[in-house]
Amino acid sequence: MDARIDSPARRLMARLDALAAFTDDPPRLTRLCLSQAHRRAAAQFIAWANESGLDAYVDPVGNVRARYEGAAPGAPALMIGSHIDTVRDAGRYDGALGALAALSVVEGLAAAGRRLPVAVEVVAFGDEEGVRFPYTLTGSRGLAGVNEPEALEQRDASGVSMREALIAFGGDPDHLAAARAEGVVAFVELHIEQGPVLEAEGRPLGVVTAINGATRLSAVVTGTAGHAGASPMELRRDALAAAAEMILAIEARARHEPELVATVGRLDVEPGAVNVVPGRARFSIDLRAPLDERRRRAVADIAASLSAIAARRGVRLELTPTHEAPAYICHPRIVAGLESAVAAVGVGPRLLPSGAGHDTMVMGQRWPAGMLFVRCKDGVSHNPAESISQDDCALALAALTRFVEDFRPG
Ligand code: GLV
Ligand code: MN
Ligand code: MN
Repeated sequence: MDARIDSPARRLMARLDALAAFTDDPPRLTRLCLSQAHRRAAAQFIAWANESGLDAYVDPVGNVRARYEGAAPGAPALMIGSHIDTVRDAGRYDGALGALAALSVVEGLAAAGRRLPVAVEVVAFGDEEGVRFPYTLTGSRGLAGVNEPEALEQRDASGVSMREALIAFGGDPDHLAAARAEGVVAFVELHIEQGPVLEAEGRPLGVVTAINGATRLSAVVTGTAGHAGASPMELRRDALAAAAEMILAIEARARHEPELVATVGRLDVEPGAVNVVPGRARFSIDLRAPLDERRRRAVADIAASLSAIAARRGVRLELTPTHEAPAYICHPRIVAGLESAVAAVGVGPRLLPSGAGHDTMVMGQRWPAGMLFVRCKDGVSHNPAESISQDDCALALAALTRFVEDFRPG
């Protein structure tokens, strides 16, 4: 391993370990958007940036941002970064790798006293996972200036609104428009692959061609709660049994079509007692596909079959869309630049799509954007077993640095 790239990679891996200590639910890593752990992680991120002489701050929508000036003050900026919120019981690399790698790239430039034709803006988004609030990607939407006005009014499971959480975090919900980024010319995100392709092919890095579009819905099924012993089977309106049939219908629809994936990741049952027929079941639906048209068709089919199940079982169904992100085709100029950067660090380029969603799909609505993937062990992600090697981390850092150094605006 080249000593010049080994040491920043080692520091980056150490920081990833340190950041994993910021959790709302120890010993598991759970750092939901705008939580206390997120606030402490953001403060740590700022402290690391400050150590390298960079001014970093929390913007009105809860992103951590820092700017490294180019050769000419006020130069157009290349923005790089990823997110520092996590799912529940998360791995330590999803998001944090790209956010801290961005900081590391800039630290390398600062340490060498190098100024580029562009400024480099580092961002650590705070709302990529969409686990706490239903509507998601508010950090990147804030930068791109495409947040829906009602984003701030959504509430988490404890009734806390995003507005309240943002104030506690140090954001400024009354001036969200001020988060809109100006002077940016492109965005690039480094991320773990979260799938098995690179590992299966023995490749450390890949360049993303496109990101699956996603729709999320919340389903509420209302039946009638009743005594588990005294309610005859044929007279029940069991909300959970109806939800179970619906969940299997969702799975069947996704199995029916290649590349369509559908997940019910959350299910809450009321009243939730061993001797009570469930009166209400709420569940989440997450649907992804590479083509928006196919995803929309699947959403319509699923809505129709769930309504049919509800009608047959005599329960009420409310389906509410909570999140919609169109598929994004990565910008050809960024893809080409990343391919060259990957080749420059001695890795054969591999182009691949992303099944997971990323802030890049929102940033790409306003700027040319793209992503670099790093292989992860067994393709595992959204799981504490998530793992990458330091050697791969070093290569990714070298490739991202090369991309940034070679990038020219316009
Ligand atoms: C984020 O990880 C997502 O794709 O849901
Ligand atoms: Mn992620
Ligand atoms: Mn994730």
